[in-house]
Amino acid sequence: MDFQSCVNIKKEWDIVGARQLGRDIAGKVGFGTVDQARIATAISELARNIYLYAGTGKVCFETIEEINQKGLIIIAMDDGPGIRELNQVMEDGFSTSGGLGAGLPGVKRLMDEFDIQSEQGNGTEIKVVKWLR
Ligand SMILES: Nc1ncnc2c1ncn2[C@@H]1O[C@H](COP(=O)(O)OP(=O)(O)OP(=O)(O)O)[C@@H](O)[C@H]1O
Ligand SMILES: [Mg+2]
Repeated sequence: MDFQSCVNIKKEWDIVGARQLGRDIAGKVGFGTVDQARIATAISELARNIYLYAGTGKVCFETIEEINQKGLIIIAMDDGPGIRELNQVMEDGFSTSGGLGAGLPGVKRLMDEFDIQSEQGNGTEIKVVKWLR
């Protein structure tokens, strides 16, 4: 891991900041504009969920820049209420807020790896990875 950075999510505007920083880092790793847009969209969804459901949290970036393997890891974490319906949130259309319920399934489609850990009352941590190929 060659680079690590986090953006605190407190205000709605921080979603934009996380998205922009993530896009910049993705560009530096070598992702093209289409993948940069995919990554930026995934970051927006994760940051927006933190803002909406946990109130505050952070989005962290880690680059992997080895000779034969480059990629970007994004970890969205919060100490919010956690996700009770963990077995349902990956289905399209599941929302507790009247949203589209497209956020997390969309993030999974946009990225190469997706891991979610959440316990009711114990916050949520979502780790996603995009590999450069
Ligand atoms: N960080 C989080 N903390 C607590 N609950 C969360 C968190 N992220 C997601 N959730 C829960 O998971 C559900 C599904 O999230 P998802 O982003 O897929 O859909 P949505 O936010 O409801 O709608 P959309 O993202 O399409 O506007 C949310 O409705 C919410 O109940
Ligand atoms: Mg959402």
